[in-house]
Amino acid sequence: MPVTQAREIAAASRLDNVRYAIRDLNSVAEAVTRQGHKVLPLNLGDPLSFDFETPAHIIEAVYKAMRDGKNGYAPSPGIPEALEAIRGEAARKGITNIQDVFVTSGASEAVDACLTALLNPGDDLLTPCPDYPLYSAVLSKLGIKPNLYFLNEEDGWQPELDNMRRRITPRTRGIVLINPNNPTGSVCSRSMLEQIADIAREHNLIIFADEIYDKLILDERDQHVSIAAIAPDVPVVTLGGMSKNYLVPGWRIGWGVVSGDAAVVKPYIDGVQRLLRARLCANHPEQYAIKAALEGPQDHLIEVRRKLAARRDLTVKSCNSTPHMSCVPPRGAFYAFPRIEIPEGDDVFVKELLLQKYVLVVHGSGFGQKPGTQHFRIVFLPDEATLTRAYASMRDFMANRYGA
Ligand SMILES: Cc1ncc(COP(=O)(O)O)c(C=O)c1O
Repeated sequence: MPVTQAREIAAASRLDNVRYAIRDLNSVAEAVTRQGHKVLPLNLGDPLSFDFETPAHIIEAVYKAMRDGKNGYAPSPGIPEALEAIRGEAARKGITNIQDVFVTSGASEAVDACLTALLNPGDDLLTPCPDYPLYSAVLSKLGIKPNLYFLNEEDGWQPELDNMRRRITPRTRGIVLINPNNPTGSVCSRSMLEQIADIAREHNLIIFADEIYDKLILDERDQHVSIAAIAPDVPVVTLGGMSKNYLVPGWRIGWGVVSGDAAVVKPYIDGVQRLLRARLCANHPEQYAIKAALEGPQDHLIEVRRKLAARRDLTVKSCNSTPHMSCVPPRGAFYAFPRIEIPEGDDVFVKELLLQKYVLVVHGSGFGQKPGTQHFRIVFLPDEATLTRAYASMRDFMANRYGA
């Protein structure tokens, strides 16, 4: 008689806290769609779902690479011409003292490898609150409890330095800094970065500077500053990638640039490189787009920033004129993180908004937030007409559910 396996296959308990709130409501959205409604997805940061187009010369570079037979495995750290282009880009950002560069399957894989290569059981890592949920997911996988520092809404969502200092323990190994920030759209000032670098120096910490949105600064008066550029002595891994700046999130190309004192970062780099060898390589033909993107025409960015600035303005104006809602103006990326004053959880708010108005946003609790506050994250990538409709629905919903 054939034997069938009846016992259920349990998932590892270290995954219990692995969450990715951005896709949490997908099953509800699918049910709403099955009922014949068109859901407006303001939850996913994918510009290609809206009126943004990948620059043609980048596509050509990958097409050529495939036709030229670059379809085998690549070197584990990345192809030499891509590594050179990333070094050149880092130099343009003012980063000196570069000790290593590597290409990964999206910045996501770089985050995974960089945190895995650093943290032992019992260590902790300072991560922002609110946070891009990948960091807490990777920490959960590693069995590391997140050590959160607050971003201050009253100060344009800048890091709260006193809070950061107070959170440091003897086992704190590093600081994650997302600049420009997801989910708040904030951009750090030079003086803020200098103070964070001082904290890192004082406590012997490595900084993970997630700068995946560094070319999406929305106002001309602002300039993106890399923390690695102003602190060449501090160990920093600057994370970047093609997904957002070059409009190819599906290609899964990201990278890390390690800077700091050579002797200090050497063992850590060896650890990262060991992990990169174990996973063979990042996508090969797509790596040929890196040089084309970083060194080729940047014209598309003018149009992208123009569209995003107008959509940001509309978002801020609409939120700030909606009852029970207020919004700190984002200065980079394409997210806003409005606050809501409501008598129920923001998870209930986003679910009901989806069920009643077919607008899909992400609950603030999915990113972490100060106790007693409620928020939600909007992706303001759609065109103004679509956003205007979405914000009218939201206003209607707020007035009906919580009073005008
Ligand atoms: C702050 C931040 N870091 C990293 C990523 C992941 O980027 P990638 O597509 O390169 O994996 C994202 C994606 O939304 C992000 O917002």
